[in-house]
Amino acid sequence: MEHILLEKQVRPHVSLIRLNRPQQLNALNLQLMSELRDTIQELDQDQDTHVIVVTGDEKAFAAGADIKQMEGKSSVDMLKIDQFNTWDQIRKTKKPIIAAVSGFALGGGCELAMTCDMIIASESAKFGQPEIKIGTMPGAGGTQRLTRALGKAKAMELVLTGDFLSAEEALSRGLVNKIVPVEIYLEEAFELAARIAAMPPISVQLAKESVNQAFEVGLSQGLVFERKNFYLTFSTEDQKEGMNAFIEKRKPNFRGK
Ligand code: CAA
Repeated sequence: MEHILLEKQVRPHVSLIRLNRPQQLNALNLQLMSELRDTIQELDQDQDTHVIVVTGDEKAFAAGADIKQMEGKSSVDMLKIDQFNTWDQIRKTKKPIIAAVSGFALGGGCELAMTCDMIIASESAKFGQPEIKIGTMPGAGGTQRLTRALGKAKAMELVLTGDFLSAEEALSRGLVNKIVPVEIYLEEAFELAARIAAMPPISVQLAKESVNQAFEVGLSQGLVFERKNFYLTFSTEDQKEGMNAFIEKRKPNFRGK
């Protein structure tokens, strides 16, 4: 792989993916996105990985889809390439993905961070959908996810002006989980990942799927979905172990079964 770096076991059962086009502020060209999709799909099948962290570097998580690659394209070219299909495939990942964001998370970069399940941001993080300034608009979920996260008024403002949202504002509006100094944002993401990686993996998967249903369906359907997944956890050995350990006042030993 040319534009992706993979490190396994940065913490027990935690794998790290780095977007690696620093000279281009990690702009998301087609090759990078397909490498990212392939790596995430591989980790989703990897028994030793329970949680995935995706990061860029201190200056940029990613400054958007690659403008140089898109510039001369027609609508028909874009339709045929259908580049956002890779985002859809990443969205289907069963294991939790944490985005560790520092610097620019713009356009497709902001959309990629929002496609992840949680965001740990450095104090320098800047989120935005500046596509309007280059004659287009968000295409990888920005108008939908940003609106759900920030509410209509602020999302509309950002999408129509291209202004950036500071890390602090992103935190106060619930877009990110936590902001920390730039020196430790990756460590902080690892800590969160490690805590989740120590939980029973099948319950984690079913719980993630259930939370995500809240964005897809109405309350009644969502409650039914959640309840079935709850009952399903009672087929796992980890549920027996977890409840038994609680009663015996000992630490559970989860085995992902
Ligand atoms: N695509 C391609 N190249 C990019 C890029 C992008 N999205 N963002 C930055 N780069 C490149 C620059 O062209 C430059 O390359 P060269 O050295 O070869 O000229 C290099 O990265 C460094 O960038 P700057 O010199 O511009 O750095 P800066 O610190 O002065 O500015 C910035 C940083 C404000 C983020 C600025 O680079 C910028 O505005 N980038 C574009 C942001 C943007 O519009 N993103 C949306 C893209 S479209 C999209 O994402 C559609 C979608 O919905 C998926």
